[in-house]
Amino acid sequence: MLELARMMKTRAYAPYSGFAVGAAVRGESGRLYGGCNVENAAYPQGTCAEAAAIAALVAGGERRVTEALVLAGGSGLVTPCGGCRQRLREFADDAAPVHLCGEGEARTLTLGELLPLSFGPRHLGK
Ligand code: THU
Repeated sequence: MLELARMMKTRAYAPYSGFAVGAAVRGESGRLYGGCNVENAAYPQGTCAEAAAIAALVAGGERRVTEALVLAGGSGLVTPCGGCRQRLREFADDAAPVHLCGEGEARTLTLGELLPLSFGPRHLGK
């Protein structure tokens, strides 16, 4: 997953923030899907690396994320933004591991730790 996220990070389009992010998610099949952040001159239209990886998983015909990894450069670990925690929540269980990676350090939390008491598909009867 780290290797894929590293490659994705090199493809990030982040001319405004200069903050390149790569993400990888694992589907139930075991297959990995990657994504990078894609910024836009109209700032709010930019998208996060996790969103791209999740979109690739769904486009690949899968519906569940069993594990996720996010990698950024700079000092310290990157943690998924609030919106991406919710995006992961749509397809992953509370117990799914989310690996937070920076240069030379890593930490694993569960999605439930990152987004406690979350709102999800069950609240809508799905
Ligand atoms: N970003 C991600 O891609 N994922 C995250 O979890 C945090 C933030 C991106 C969005 C934007 O392109 C840049 O990092 C700075 O916020």
